[in-house]
Amino acid sequence: MKEAPDISPSWELASVSIGCYAGGERRFLTHQSEGAAVPTMEEQRVPISHLRVGVFIRLELPWFKHPFLLGSFKIKSPDQIRALKELGLSTVICIPEKSDQQPMAPSDLDAAEKDTGGGRSESDTSLQQALWNIKNERIVRLKAQRERLNRCEREFEQALTRVKDIITNVGMASREVVENADTVVKDMVGSLLSDTSVVVQLMNTKPGGEDIFYHSLNAVVLGLLLGRECGLDADALQKLGLGLIFHDIGKQRIPKKVLRKQTALTPPEMKLIQLHPKYGQEMIASRVPDFPPEAMTIVVGHHEALDGSGYPSGLAGEKIPLLVRLASIANVFDNHCNKLDPATSLTPSQALSFMFRKQAAQLDRSLMAVFIRCLGVYPPGTVVHLSNEGIGMVVGANPRNTLLPSILLYDPDIPRNEALIVDMEEEPDLTIVESIHPAKLDPQIFAYLSPRARVSYFPQLKGELGSVSR
Ligand SMILES: [Fe+2]
Repeated sequence: MKEAPDISPSWELASVSIGCYAGGERRFLTHQSEGAAVPTMEEQRVPISHLRVGVFIRLELPWFKHPFLLGSFKIKSPDQIRALKELGLSTVICIPEKSDQQPMAPSDLDAAEKDTGGGRSESDTSLQQALWNIKNERIVRLKAQRERLNRCEREFEQALTRVKDIITNVGMASREVVENADTVVKDMVGSLLSDTSVVVQLMNTKPGGEDIFYHSLNAVVLGLLLGRECGLDADALQKLGLGLIFHDIGKQRIPKKVLRKQTALTPPEMKLIQLHPKYGQEMIASRVPDFPPEAMTIVVGHHEALDGSGYPSGLAGEKIPLLVRLASIANVFDNHCNKLDPATSLTPSQALSFMFRKQAAQLDRSLMAVFIRCLGVYPPGTVVHLSNEGIGMVVGANPRNTLLPSILLYDPDIPRNEALIVDMEEEPDLTIVESIHPAKLDPQIFAYLSPRARVSYFPQLKGELGSVSR
């Protein structure tokens, strides 16, 4: 199991100076992590004719004007150099620090010219066409991926509306409300169990929504994904989801001014809030006597902790049922990511790291390991610095490899709604260098990536359309 990363370092881009190197331009990028500066990155402008295999380059063309899959890459073959020449470029940016080979010196050029045969040829044109064919396939897959994401967003909105209806009406027609909740969970469990290629996807959320609806749905989604990964059957997942929909229902009896208080709670206020699991149990038991007992243990027990420090009963260890331990992880994670004051929320990777390192005594460690596998070391919503010097935001987890999620790339030349989404499993040369705290982003990059003030997830089912990442 991969250990969760440290709390995110920051990343800042700053163009420090332009100089000259071997007749070309030199540019410097300064990377800063929290607390300490990391080595300065230097860029050089070099003539195309000086390139060779192993040189890492960055193109200064918009993505749709060149046939390469990424705008920054290490040259792998002479064909790529020929394709660069075909683009009509005279120079490209080279990043020596990321290169296996440095650009050629003038004395090497004659020999290289003989090797590549010089000028333009028919095969160069077909090479361009072959690269464009590959890229066009990528564009088609990207379009399908975007459509699937849009569908996922619509399903998320529908589920949110249903959860809102359930929670709003819980005080009135309780049996009907519980039946509705049962149906919502059944639909979700059915989808999850029918599609093995499901991935966790970051959702757009509208500002101003009531926290409890988002929180309840997110807890259900995360709990069910975790439960499925743990091998729970449909019946156990159903009870887990039902318990999670209603887990905070008792907060309806707590005054809003206490619930929404953003400063430290007084001891009496704290005691009052800690009554919500019992209130929830009473509310449901009085109206729906046959509410499944396993789901009720979640309502009353989701704040219990393995070390006995939780409430209301201070249960410890094995006395806390498995479903409650699962529910607790989903609940704690969402609470870390979505605090009353968003400025104090943890990023998803910070939340995982905090839970794994600081709450190890309270949470089930083996279940936490599974949870990290579900969300990835860099969970959706995490902004990352990539090995090709790009910056992006993780939008989808990859359960097959926690280090290779799908990433929405920052590219000022591509409109935000058409942003390139890269499946890292398809890009063996691309790795995540570090996570970046959104507060440290350049405002232009922040606006483009728009890291969510609220982190909400929903399962994206790939089975119906087949995987587009192949
Ligand atoms: Fe709670």
